This record gives sequence, C-alpha cells and structure tokens, in this order.
Amino acid sequence: MITNGSLQGMVFLAERFRSGRVLVEAPTYDRPLKILAAHGVEISPVAMDDEGLDPSALEHALGSGEKPAFLYTIPTFQNPSGRTLSTERRHRLVELAREHDLPVLEDDPYGLVRYEGTAPPTLFELEGGELVTYSSSFSKTIAPGLRVGYFVLPAALERELEALAVSTYITPVLLGQATVFEFLRRGNFEPNLERVRSLLGARRDAMLEALETELPGARWSHPEGGYFIWLELPDGTDTTKLLGPAGEAGVTYVPGADFGGEPNTARLAFSFVSLDEIREGVRRLAALVPVSV
Ligand SMILES: Cc1ncc(COP(=O)(O)O)c(C=O)c1O
Repeated sequence: MITNGSLQGMVFLAERFRSGRVLVEAPTYDRPLKILAAHGVEISPVAMDDEGLDPSALEHALGSGEKPAFLYTIPTFQNPSGRTLSTERRHRLVELAREHDLPVLEDDPYGLVRYEGTAPPTLFELEGGELVTYSSSFSKTIAPGLRVGYFVLPAALERELEALAVSTYITPVLLGQATVFEFLRRGNFEPNLERVRSLLGARRDAMLEALETELPGARWSHPEGGYFIWLELPDGTDTTKLLGPAGEAGVTYVPGADFGGEPNTARLAFSFVSLDEIREGVRRLAALVPVSV
C-alpha cells in the first residue's frame, strides 16, 4: 500500500488499533509516539541496548498486561539511537512474535542508507510477512518532499487499511509517485544512493571524530548508516535543561527524553550539516557539558 510518506501509514494503524496496547522501543521515534497517544493507544516501552531491542525485555512485556495490538520497531539505524538490531536478536524476535502471535511493524526508512558493513536480514524476510508489516519510504533515498512511502501488509490488514485510506484521501498523491517512478525508470536511484551514502558517511565520520576529541568522557552509538548518533552524557546531566544554553551557543539537538529516553541522552543528527558545522557544533556542545565529563 502506497502512502503519502510512511508516517501516514502509522496514522492508519493507530486508527485501526485505537485504544489498544502497542509495544515500542525505548527510546523510539517521537512522531509515532505522539500519533499513537493521540489515538488513545496505551504505549508500553521495551528496553533496548547497543544491540537494539532487548529480547528478554520483550518477552517480559509480552508476559504481562493486555495482549499487544503490535510491536513498533525500527531495527536498522534506529531513529533516534542509530542502533541496529543484531542478526541473532532478529531471529529471536521473530521466534517470539510467532510464539505470542504478535504482529510487528518493521519501520525501515534508513536500511539502504548504509556506509559500511553488511545488511542483516529484515524481520520481514525472516518471518515471511504473515505477522511482520514492512514499511519504508523514498524520503531518505530520493527526497522527503515527495511524500512517497509504502507498507507491505498482511492480506487481512491490507483490506482494512485500504478502506481507511480511501475514506481519508481517495488516493495518495499521484504526482509524487510519478516523479519517483520516473526517477527509477531513468536509472537514477542507485547513483543517487551512492551519492547520499558518500556525503552522509563523511558526515557520520566527522561527528564520530569530533565526539572522540571533544567529549572523551561521554558514550555514543557507532551507527554503520542512517542519520543519527545517540549521545549519553554522565548521569545527572539534563539535556532538556541544556537545550536553551545550547541554542544560545548556536547548536541544537533533540533531548533524549522527547523519545522516551533518559534525561542525560540526546539525539545528534549529522545528516543535514556540513563537515565544518559538525566539528564546530560538537565543540560548542562539549563546552556546555559539565567539566566532570
Ligand atoms: C523511523 C522513521 N519512520 C518514518 C519516518 C517518516 O518518513 P516519511 O517521510 O516517509 O513519512 C521517519 C522520518 O524521519 C523516520 O525516522
């Protein structure tokens, strides 16, 4: 099912499972959190670590409370943490989904934006698409303004969501789709992806190097792709409070608490800024962090 950006599919799912319980990674992308909350969905956060969603925490969440309507996961280059679920954990997650008859939404807009390493199998590939819905979009690989996203849905859900979609917009915008089609037909997709990978890979490297130099006492994720690095400052640091002074210093980030993360965490985006801005931004941020770091 094609949607006007993949986020719109999340709105349809939230409508379909209104008032249900949805498991999400802690932290996770803030917009789905807001969409789900606005639809009266009970949100159950499930812990993650450097290897992605923690299967024991998932098992625990499945064993308590109302049966979840679905699990929302971003297994590759997660927004906001940049973390990727390990292959072993992917197998375990699929096993748990089957055992508990748990529908899963695998949101994967960043998977192709990989700078190094080998791609692990998607949950959708491992499971076969009966329980796992796969969503992605052309926002990160062509342009976000086109608003072309898509969902690969299990048959039953497809009919229900299509009915919701038709009563919302009749059809997703054809001009955006035609533009994507033409882009693909002309063979521009692969070269553009290479361009994106090379530009953004250099930005990721610049941010990792700057963090190494400027914030040696902090921890951060080391993503092999995507847009984001997850910064963990020492306990007691409050990145929400630090945001004002950071803005005055001309640097910004999103506090981890906005994504359901701990107060000492922050999402740093390297995708939209130049190499020099990245170096300077990290330098200015580091100057604001308590000296004990
Ligand atoms: C994890 C995730 N899902 C979905 C989206 C939204 O993508 P789209 O532009 O296709 O709506 C984003 C965009 O930032 C994202 O990070």
